[in-house]
Amino acid sequence: MSTTTATNTIKDSAITDIAAGLNQLVADSYGLMAQLHLAHWNVEGADFYPLHTGFQTQYEELFTAIDDIAERVRALDCYSAGGLKTLASMSNIEEGPSASGCPAKDFVASVLVGHEKVIETAHKTRLLAAESGDAETEDLLIGRISTHQKFAWMLRSYLK
Ligand SMILES: [Fe+2]
Repeated sequence: MSTTTATNTIKDSAITDIAAGLNQLVADSYGLMAQLHLAHWNVEGADFYPLHTGFQTQYEELFTAIDDIAERVRALDCYSAGGLKTLASMSNIEEGPSASGCPAKDFVASVLVGHEKVIETAHKTRLLAAESGDAETEDLLIGRISTHQKFAWMLRSYLK
């Protein structure tokens, strides 16, 4: 790994680890996006419409964000993780309720756990980026954490 003018403020020794952390975030975000899709399709009950549309808002936001995260990896002159099998094998997101007849709250609780896991992954790499002089990755991850915290708040509020 060599630094370029685009990355020369970042400690060389940290770039590979930052990229690995970002790739983990890509995988975890993909896992959460899949859970949100599943919840969007299969949720039932009196709250169907707001949950169906709320899950969609979240997976659409994630789809765009994943591209930004993967492209940050490329800006660091590393390679992005991709492909469903690879990302599924890397992802730390647990499979949530998958079958018909699941209570709506179970879907909400499942994606809430997923958001919390993604926050944890993003936070680790945010700290590494901060220690390593990579303000751009830190900025990206602060944005990601804030967004997931906001979605988590909304989901927690539903569960009360
Ligand atoms: Fe849809």
